[in-house]
Amino acid sequence: MHDTLKLFIEEHIVIIEESLRQIISELDAPESLKSSMAYSINAGGKRIRPLLVLATLKDLQVNCSDALKVACAVELIHTYSLIHDDLPSMDNDDFRRGKLTNHKVYGEAVAVLAGDALQALAFETLTKLSDTSTRIAMDLIGLLAKASGAEGMVGGQILDIEGERKQLSLIELEHVHLNKTGALLSFCVEAGAVLAAIPIEEKGKLMIYAKNIGLAFQIQDDILDVTASTEELGKTAGSDESSEKMTYPALLGLENSKKRLDEHHRLARESLDFLNNNESLLALLADYIVERRY
Ligand code: IPE
Ligand code: IPE
Ligand code: MG
Ligand code: MG
Ligand code: MG
Repeated sequence: MHDTLKLFIEEHIVIIEESLRQIISELDAPESLKSSMAYSINAGGKRIRPLLVLATLKDLQVNCSDALKVACAVELIHTYSLIHDDLPSMDNDDFRRGKLTNHKVYGEAVAVLAGDALQALAFETLTKLSDTSTRIAMDLIGLLAKASGAEGMVGGQILDIEGERKQLSLIELEHVHLNKTGALLSFCVEAGAVLAAIPIEEKGKLMIYAKNIGLAFQIQDDILDVTASTEELGKTAGSDESSEKMTYPALLGLENSKKRLDEHHRLARESLDFLNNNESLLALLADYIVERRY
């Protein structure tokens, strides 16, 4: 990993994790529920989504005291989605972020409810922005709802499940990936752009970047499911094959999946030309997304 990105991540991951820990610990809620929520939130993970929010603002050279709350909101949604994604009725996985999955420790009922509560908490967190106009805060709430709901992540998750044991076309599979994974990643970049109030043309370029890293992220996730070990991943390798998922490697083979990955990486980087910085944080994050080993 490039030193600039390494430093950025080291510095900001601590702040993000401390803030997430605090958001959960302040809840006046039953201990069993808080414990299950904290278990998954504090289990680590790459924190790519919150980092993307902060990196977008940094590349645009805009300081925003509300950015951390927006970053945490998206990680709360992401973590809820992982708890539900791992349930026996979904991908039925036993390991996540190097630990037993939430339902393996707390049982299915609590895991479902912890996910529900994390989702609600994400939106509550967005109502607490203090330095952003009500109009912009409302826009962010609407964007996160759209990105995570029926027209975004949840919509993609249902297509992913309905696609099991089916042959999808590349266009259909791309659509699944853009929704189940891309929508939330796009939100992160868009939220940064909205908070920075940049011109529409620049925002358009950032959204092309976001679309391409969204696809690249899930293609690499699919590739790693086949090529990396359970130990490396912190989640069960080969999970997609066991549930007969339609993935990029299943559809195109590994070599062609890697070519697609490289193409989306190239397009993502190209769309950042307007930043005039080959080593912008967003460019380096795109590199990291395709080079990552877990
Ligand atoms: C895993 O996301 C789920 C996908 C959308 C592929 P991440 O790979 O970002 O998981 P963590 O947050 O690092 O654990
Ligand atoms: C999950 O995709 C996307 C989500 C919205 C959670 P996967 O099912 O491929 O994610 P992993 O491999 O379990 O992390
Ligand atoms: Mg899944
Ligand atoms: Mg899964
Ligand atoms: Mg996967």
